[in-house]
Amino acid sequence: MIRQLFDKPLGQWFEALKRAKDRPTVRVKQLEERDRFRMRKHFLSLDNDDRLLRFGTVLPDEQVIAYVDKINFERDTIYGVYNQVFKLVAVGHLAFAPKAQLTGAATVTEKEKVAEFGVSVLAIARGQGIGSKLFQRAAIHCRNADVDTLYMQCLSSNQTMMHIAKKAGMEIHREYGEADAYLRLPPPSPGTVMQEAIEEQFATIDYTFKATNRAAAKLFER
Ligand SMILES: CC(C)(COP(=O)(O)OP(=O)(O)OC[C@H]1O[C@@H](n2cnc3c(N)ncnc32)[C@H](O)[C@@H]1OP(=O)(O)O)[C@@H](O)C(=O)NCCC(=O)NCCS
Repeated sequence: MIRQLFDKPLGQWFEALKRAKDRPTVRVKQLEERDRFRMRKHFLSLDNDDRLLRFGTVLPDEQVIAYVDKINFERDTIYGVYNQVFKLVAVGHLAFAPKAQLTGAATVTEKEKVAEFGVSVLAIARGQGIGSKLFQRAAIHCRNADVDTLYMQCLSSNQTMMHIAKKAGMEIHREYGEADAYLRLPPPSPGTVMQEAIEEQFATIDYTFKATNRAAAKLFER
């Protein structure tokens, strides 16, 4: 499904709009400094199993907080999905790194940099296509940034993530319980640039609407 999107980005985008009746529309917004507080809440509400799947180890609360506090919004790209009551139900962290830092990356790409993606969706919001949509959005951003290899490290026992990776056409290598999955991306096109810009515009409107509603609801709660 994600691979098809790379072939005809705008056509697929309109198709996705038509299919929106079946699943709620997922608006993926690029997060900023003002979202850090809600990111902390998001990661702290992941239970031990989810922390293991997301970070490869059961991070204690202090390290989760340190991870969020160290996120650099200038260097990395962070995506989020807010639900109707302005709760941050999903976060995707896209980081670019020199390929020399990743074992084996030198043989996969000729570009200087590769991208790495990590994602978490709260249990209450799973199975609605949010994880896939975040991954798809990160892949489009990589294309537009002229990065052609997107890595995702996860445990090979993570069936859901393996399913998403396979659906995206990722090449998966399993080693000692860890799976290193990467996706080769085609170069950008005017369609991918426009798609990213349009999606961010819609997500910004959605974000403003939900944030305003939440602020109004808080006033009434007093
Ligand atoms: C992995 C995770 C991000 C998925 O989020 P999500 O929003 O539920 O994902 P989606 O709804 O887009 O897709 C889930 C897909 O997996 C499938 N799936 C669900 N459970 C599955 C299982 N046990 N085995 C195989 N596939 C499974 C669903 O049917 C769905 O497929 P479809 O879209 O083809 O119908 C979420 O479960 C999560 O946050 N887990 C904890 C952290 C983690 O594992 N992060 C990944 C490592 S970085």
